Amino acid sequence: TANWTLPDHPTLPKGKTVAVVVLDGWGEASPDQYNCIHVAQTPVMDSLKNGAPEKWRLVKAHGTAVGLPSDDDMGNSEVGHNALGAGRIFAQGAKLVDAALASGKIWEDEGFNYIKESFDKGTLHLIGLLSDGGVHSRLDQVQLIVKGASERGAKRIRLHILTDGRDVLDGSSVGFIETIEKDLAQLREQGVDARIASGGGRMYVTMDRYENDWSVVKRGWDAQVLGEAPHKFQNALEAVKTLRAEPKANDQYLPPFVIVDESGKSVGPIVDGDAVVTFNFRADRMVMLAKALEFPDFDKFDRVRVPKIKYAGMLQYDGELKLPSKYLVSPPLIERTSGEYLVKNGVRTFACSETVKFGHVTFFWNGNRSGYFDETREEYVEIPSDSGITFNEQPKMKALEIAERTRDAILSGKFDQVRINLPNGDMVGHTGDIEATVVACKAADEAVKMVLDAVEQVGGIYLVTADHGNAEDMVKRNKAGQPMLDKSGSIQILTSHTLQPVPVAIGGPGLHPGVRFRSDIQTPGLANVAATVMNLHGFQAPADYETTLIEVVDN
Ligand code: 3PG
Ligand code: CO
Repeated sequence: TANWTLPDHPTLPKGKTVAVVVLDGWGEASPDQYNCIHVAQTPVMDSLKNGAPEKWRLVKAHGTAVGLPSDDDMGNSEVGHNALGAGRIFAQGAKLVDAALASGKIWEDEGFNYIKESFDKGTLHLIGLLSDGGVHSRLDQVQLIVKGASERGAKRIRLHILTDGRDVLDGSSVGFIETIEKDLAQLREQGVDARIASGGGRMYVTMDRYENDWSVVKRGWDAQVLGEAPHKFQNALEAVKTLRAEPKANDQYLPPFVIVDESGKSVGPIVDGDAVVTFNFRADRMVMLAKALEFPDFDKFDRVRVPKIKYAGMLQYDGELKLPSKYLVSPPLIERTSGEYLVKNGVRTFACSETVKFGHVTFFWNGNRSGYFDETREEYVEIPSDSGITFNEQPKMKALEIAERTRDAILSGKFDQVRINLPNGDMVGHTGDIEATVVACKAADEAVKMVLDAVEQVGGIYLVTADHGNAEDMVKRNKAGQPMLDKSGSIQILTSHTLQPVPVAIGGPGLHPGVRFRSDIQTPGLANVAATVMNLHGFQAPADYETTLIEVVDN
């Protein structure tokens, strides 16, 4: 068992209120017209950046610095908040699945052997995001699962695809479908009955998160399980091309469709005796479907028909709920997070965001763990997000409400740490709407101001950072950094995250005057923040944590 007592910091005092502010999707990039943070009025973040150079710096938020397979992988909120909270770098889902496929262990473990029991009589259904974005899933992993399952006895395979356009360019769904269709055609030649059975855009079908809007999951259920959808097509390529041709259509929001045979019957409803794998490795946008597939007393929508299936997730999505109970690859085991240490050392903690990012500052921050460590010392507040809209319609989102609740928490004197996520740069950045993203960045900056003003009033300390880039670059660029054009000559909008570093700024009246960023850490990343925050609370971090970013000098 862990020794939870943190040693005192040699110089830094305890008892200061520390505000940890995470700006979601707020990277640092050169200023131009596609850098919405630069274009927006962001006086507060500008003043932090242009203030004392020893109180502002950049850290890595992508690739190996956050446990992703390679430095070509952009950062994302899951791995970013895991690193921020855990203070160490853990091999993340993408990497763990790669390793299990490379070693072949995935085929030997319990999860696959469990679903394999259905291969004789039942169909294998694979549900997930068809994309090479590497944030929730990866196309090459899906290809290997299809191939590996067919080699191990799956005779009938049905894919239920969700189109992306959020972690990858809009329109890229077509290419991904062509790729997987080639594989499926090859399998059919070998006598395996393999085809796509249904689909829809990830933001409209299945991949809601934190229970913001169950109707999204229901639309998916109807298509995937019941085989019912408003749109019917003979094949997925035709479906996506036709639905994309509608005005304002995009990959993220395609309506649900099912593939039907000549007689108009859907080719792949999920029925008794089938096996189901949800192939996303990332949890947040799969957990709702997992509940619908696995919980007998599920009541969030009428499932109409509940097939008796053997179900496994690519990973286990919730370690507390043990959901799903069967999975192909074990998730990273993230223990002894900074949140747990601090609470156990008496730091009273307040965490807040709006629904779409609430689990980020709680579940992900706490090492993929739901709930409180100690209810008497923690309060987690979720501000309900707008649902049923795309966030460019309300780019200010709930930034003001989050800031007000946080200000009140700071002024109440009831908390030693307030920790918040401001989603605007990310959620609006994902829409690809540049004008709205500028409004979003301004709103986030105003929220930071309200929090820093409260910190000022109570003589506290702030640490402002971000989980990964997004709003600072809204255009796809060539190697030379110039915007790329599509066939029609318009710029290619980048809806996804970026590879950019993110800022860390510290300050506030409670900050010991000798504190400054160290210059001896060459390439720090988000995982270095946890030890830093522990120091600001007057503690030393555990020895196995990534080193602190700060030092204290006499002055
Ligand atoms: C999403 O799930 O919205 C995107 O794929 C990734 O965004 P996030 O990592 O910022 O949540
Ligand atoms: Co994002």
